[in-house]
Amino acid sequence: MLTHPIPPAPFAATGPIDTSPIQLTPPSGLDLDPIWVSVVPETRARSNDIHLPISLAYAERLTAAYPEANAELVRVTILLHDTGWGRVDESRILSEGFSGDWRKADIRFQHEAQGCVIAREVLPKLGYNDEFIEEVCAIIDGHDTRPVARSLEDALVRDADRLWRFDHAGIALASGWFGLDPSTYSERLRAEIVPELLSDAAKQIAHADLDRSQALLKTAVLR
Ligand SMILES: [Fe+2]
Ligand SMILES: [Fe+2]
Repeated sequence: MLTHPIPPAPFAATGPIDTSPIQLTPPSGLDLDPIWVSVVPETRARSNDIHLPISLAYAERLTAAYPEANAELVRVTILLHDTGWGRVDESRILSEGFSGDWRKADIRFQHEAQGCVIAREVLPKLGYNDEFIEEVCAIIDGHDTRPVARSLEDALVRDADRLWRFDHAGIALASGWFGLDPSTYSERLRAEIVPELLSDAAKQIAHADLDRSQALLKTAVLR
C-alpha cells in the first residue's frame, strides 16, 4: 500500500476544512464497528471510550481536508492507537504517563507496543491484509514517542490525536490528567499543542474549537 510522504508543516489543505463543533460530524458509517466491538475492554482504560471516538471524528475531518491521504489507514489507526493503555499497569498511567517527562516515560513505549499487539490480534480476523496491518502498526508504534511523522497518514493521525483535546470534552478530561484547571490547561493547548500540529487544517480546527471551548467554560473569569 502506498502512503504519501509528509510535506513541510503546516501543510495546506487540498479539500474542505470543517471548523464547526465536532458533535455535528460524528464518526461516519458502520464499517469500523467490528473493530470497535473487538476492543471494548481496551476502551475502558484511560477514558479511551471518549478519546478514541472523538479522535476518529477529527481524523475524518482531516481526511476530508487531505483527500490524497489513505483515509482507511488513518481511520483504523486512530481507532486503535491508544488501545494499548488497556494492557498496561493502570496505576502507572497517570503517575508516569502524564507527569514529569511523560513523553519519554517507559509506560508510553509500552502502550504503543501493546497497541500493535492488539492491532495484530484484531485486524486479521476482520479481513485486513498483512500489508495494511503493518502500515497501521508502523504509525501506532511511536505515535507518542517518535519525534517525527513518517507519512501524510502518520501526520494526520498525530493531529487527530491532539485535536480532540480542544473540544470541551477533551479539556474536561485531559486537564484532570495533568492536574490543571481548565483555564490553565486550555492556555497550554494554545501555547504548546497548536505549534505541534502538522497540518494547516488541524491548526484552523484547533483555534476554532479552543475559542468556543474557552467561551463555554468561562476560562477568562474562572482562573
Ligand atoms: Fe498514545
Ligand atoms: Fe491518543
